[in-house]
Amino acid sequence: MDSSLARLHQTAPPEESFLDCLVRGLSKTPKDIPCKYFYDSQGSQLFEQICALPEYYQTRTETALLADHAGEIAQLMGDGIEILEFGAGALKKVRILLDAARVAAYSPLDISGDYLREVVVTLAADYPALILRPLIGDFTQGLEIPLLPGNPRRAGFFPGSTIGNFRPDAAMALLRRMRALLPGGGLLIGVDLVKDPARLHAAYNDAAGITALFNKNLLARANRELGADFDLSGFAHYAPYNALGHRIEMYLVSLRRQSASLMGQRIDFAAGEAIHTEDSHKYTIESFREMAARAGFRPRAVWTDPERLFSLHWLES
Ligand SMILES: C[S@@+](CC[C@H](N)C(=O)[O-])C[C@H]1O[C@@H](n2cnc3c(N)ncnc32)[C@H](O)[C@@H]1O
Repeated sequence: MDSSLARLHQTAPPEESFLDCLVRGLSKTPKDIPCKYFYDSQGSQLFEQICALPEYYQTRTETALLADHAGEIAQLMGDGIEILEFGAGALKKVRILLDAARVAAYSPLDISGDYLREVVVTLAADYPALILRPLIGDFTQGLEIPLLPGNPRRAGFFPGSTIGNFRPDAAMALLRRMRALLPGGGLLIGVDLVKDPARLHAAYNDAAGITALFNKNLLARANRELGADFDLSGFAHYAPYNALGHRIEMYLVSLRRQSASLMGQRIDFAAGEAIHTEDSHKYTIESFREMAARAGFRPRAVWTDPERLFSLHWLES
């Protein structure tokens, strides 16, 4: 493993800071905060707890799909490739690929830098022969990730249906940018499917309240990092399914008229005012393959579970 985590060369203009994004997003109507800010170390740990919830079928279904089709996936990827994982999180699912395929190098990319630093140590110990290149960065920015010397082929891995966090036009643009990073390879991507709204609703409104904590971590993070004074008990987690838009929409709703202070700026909330914090779009297998094709991929294999809850796609670049 590289002794220091590589940082990405980003081709886009410098990114807005968390503070700038908060001030801009909370000063307008309607209010919003980009969902990528969920993920500091605490947010990443809360997401791992969500993955283990009984209501959250996504993680166990996708993991089973990977395990059931690992041999086929390994053949499609070919020998001696580099895997570049977008939004790598806890680095758990990739282990199935590392065990099944002949992977020469693995480059996990994530915005949650401290968490990535932590989990990569365990992976490095478990796979001592693997060339590891952890990358801290934002995949929504223009990225330049050079191929590793001696590794001319690269496969992308984008599990967890993170693609669903983007509106379809932004998702297509992101897929297009990812494709440019995967010459002569492909992208293995997990996509959550449209289904009974009650099942979807339960997955984002768990009985233990972990998704609510994850949602509120945006404000908790602002309190920790920026010395803000958001009163977490003054906000409710609200995550309805928008059946027309095929997406879960997540909000923090102010339970009363209140204000908070953020680096000397006052942020006012009316009673019932919402902050939009995340969308999670759901696709049919066909609608996703169509979008991937419009982004320039050649959709090849697709796997789904018997209940058609989740899908895993191999897209050739
Ligand atoms: C829904 S979680 C999925 C985690 C893991 N891949 C899985 O399947 O369980 C999204 C992951 O993407 C990361 N992430 C979110 N937005 C990102 C961005 N703009 N750039 C890089 N990583 C991002 C988060 O830190 C988190 O680890």
